[in-house]
Amino acid sequence: MPIFVPQFENMWFTFVLLQLLPQFALCARCPNRCICDIRGSAKCTGDITDIPPLDPTTTFLLLLNDTNIKILKDRSFQPFSLLLRLMITHSTLDTIQPEAFHGAPQLRSIKLSSTTLSVFPPKVFSEQSNLEQLQLDGNQIASVSSELFEAMVNLTELNLSKNRISQLDADVFQGLTKLNYLNLADNQLRNLPKTLFHNLLQLKSLVLSSNQLETLESGSFDHLSNLLVLMLQKNQIREIPPRLFWPLPSLLTLSMSANQLRYIPAETFYYLPNLTKLTLYKNPFISLPYQLMGHMPRLQELYLYETNLSTVPWNLFANMTNLLALNLHLNNKLTSLPKNLFCCLPKLKKLSLKNNNLQELDPELFSNLINLQILILNKNKLESLPSAIFHNTSRLEILDLKHNHLRYLPGDVFVHAMALKDLSLSGNKWNCDCSIMGIAEWIRENPKQINDLDKGVTCYEPYRLENYPLQTLTYEELHCGVFQTTFMATSAITTGAPATPTLQTSTSTTNYYFILVIIIIFIVFIITYVLYYTIFLLYNIYLNYIKIIVRLGYSNCRSLDNMHNVNLKIIKKFLF
Ligand SMILES: *[C@@H]1O[C@H](CO)[C@@H](O)[C@H](O)[C@H]1NC(C)=O
Ligand SMILES: *[C@@H]1O[C@H](CO)[C@@H](O)[C@H](O)[C@H]1NC(C)=O
Ligand SMILES: *[C@@H]1O[C@H](CO)[C@@H](O)[C@H](O)[C@H]1NC(C)=O
Ligand SMILES: *[C@@H]1O[C@H](CO)[C@@H](O)[C@H](O)[C@H]1NC(C)=O
Ligand SMILES: *[C@@H]1O[C@H](CO)[C@@H](O)[C@H](O)[C@H]1NC(C)=O
Ligand SMILES: *[C@@H]1O[C@H](CO)[C@@H](O)[C@H](O)[C@H]1NC(C)=O
Ligand SMILES: *[C@@H]1O[C@H](CO)[C@@H](O)[C@H](O)[C@H]1NC(C)=O
Repeated sequence: MPIFVPQFENMWFTFVLLQLLPQFALCARCPNRCICDIRGSAKCTGDITDIPPLDPTTTFLLLLNDTNIKILKDRSFQPFSLLLRLMITHSTLDTIQPEAFHGAPQLRSIKLSSTTLSVFPPKVFSEQSNLEQLQLDGNQIASVSSELFEAMVNLTELNLSKNRISQLDADVFQGLTKLNYLNLADNQLRNLPKTLFHNLLQLKSLVLSSNQLETLESGSFDHLSNLLVLMLQKNQIREIPPRLFWPLPSLLTLSMSANQLRYIPAETFYYLPNLTKLTLYKNPFISLPYQLMGHMPRLQELYLYETNLSTVPWNLFANMTNLLALNLHLNNKLTSLPKNLFCCLPKLKKLSLKNNNLQELDPELFSNLINLQILILNKNKLESLPSAIFHNTSRLEILDLKHNHLRYLPGDVFVHAMALKDLSLSGNKWNCDCSIMGIAEWIRENPKQINDLDKGVTCYEPYRLENYPLQTLTYEELHCGVFQTTFMATSAITTGAPATPTLQTSTSTTNYYFILVIIIIFIVFIITYVLYYTIFLLYNIYLNYIKIIVRLGYSNCRSLDNMHNVNLKIIKKFLF
């Protein structure tokens, strides 16, 4: 037994050693501040000032993050004949020697990001014909030599965003015929040479956002027939030439938001049959042409908010038959919408018209939005809505009408919106006269469909009812006269409002009281009349009695003194 135990321990130790051997071998050559793994990646960080002495026979990927390397010396990577990916990020790197990448033609991916690099020697990548990915974003690059990318015939992705580039030579991307992705966002580009992208026949994504571009030359995007995404937002573009986007038949996403466009040429968005997303918001558009949007049956999202538009052409959306979401809000000069504006959007699910200046809506405005689920109308100046406006929106679930100037709504306005479950009505200027009763009754009967009853769905006028909740109003409080109540009852019957029974009950109660009062007055009148005649009769009897007395006095030859004993005045008045 005592002999057996050490034997077992030896076996176990040998087993563990065998398991760890490759790692030990690797660790032996994995320098301080680096982590190497068995698949050949080395990650180094911290106080390193030069490329660490890694094993060139096992390093495929090298990541140097947050280091103190300031300079990349000539042929730094020549020993790493197997290195495919190199990343130097978040480093103080500011100098690259002219032949830094020479001797490493096998590299497939180079990322030099978030460093202080500002200049690249023109020939530094001249051996990089196998390079597929080059990420140079987040540096201080101000200019790019036209020779820099010359050799990169296999490059598919080039990221130059977040630099200081203000100008590019027309031929700088000329050799990049396999490029798929080009990102020039967040630079200081003021203009682009017309032929800059002409050789990029494979380009799928072009990002030019957040620059200082003021114009785009006609023909700038010619030949980019494979382009899927074009981002031009956040520039200073004031005008675009006609037909600029026509050579882009494959385009899926086009973003033109946050520019300075006031006008746009007719037919600008024609021949973009695959477009699914178009953003035009934050442009000071004053008007849009009648022929702007070509046939775009795949368009799903359109953003057209924060403009200076006071109206829009009625057929603006007519070619977007599959649109799902339309954001047409924050256009504070937009006071009305053409009646047929949403004529051809049978699939639209979400429509935002909030923060416009809309004062009234046409009864048929939404009549073709049969799939509409969300309608945002808050912060407009609507005073009322036509009673038929939601007749065809039977799928409407969320309707936001808060913070308008609503004084009145027809009692049956929501009757056809049968799916409605989240309605906001607060912050309006309800005028609590008799005509409000229809909608007040509807609110009282459907409190669960209204989400902001606690936030003040209350009278604004008359003064004596200010802040009085609509759903607790009664006819008595409104002092509705007989004419108005009768009128209300009839109109409710003709419109078929559900509130009709209650309405009729309270109306006949009022009529009953009225008749009762008349009967009482009549009875009082009769009683007074009868009393009056009784008194009159008694009085006459009394007078006749006096006459008889007087005449009897004469005939008995009594002296006139006797007559004075009777009430002389009364006798004189009635006898003669
Ligand atoms: C690189 O360093 C930066 C700054 O220290 C840090 O924010 C980032 O997460 C690091 N990235 C990697 C991949 O380690
Ligand atoms: C480019 O890549 C292909 C494979 O995708 C390869 O066959 C070809 O040799 C590469 N071209 C050059 C010039 O290295
Ligand atoms: C290009 O760089 C920007 C900025 O660093 C980054 O946001 C973007 O994701 C990069 N693109 C790709 C494809 O990596
Ligand atoms: C539009 O997309 C469809 C399928 O996604 C594709 O077959 C067609 O070629 C595209 N059209 C154009 C002009 O790119
Ligand atoms: C809209 O026009 C007004 C002047 O009428 C201007 O002050 C404002 O900046 C314009 N809006 C936009 C988004 O440019
Ligand atoms: C809709 O697109 C077709 C084809 O591109 C075009 O002829 C028509 O004028 C467009 N309609 C509108 C209202 O722009
Ligand atoms: C509702 O839609 C139908 C067709 O689906 C149409 O005939 C009718 O006029 C629409 N109703 C209103 C009030 O517009």
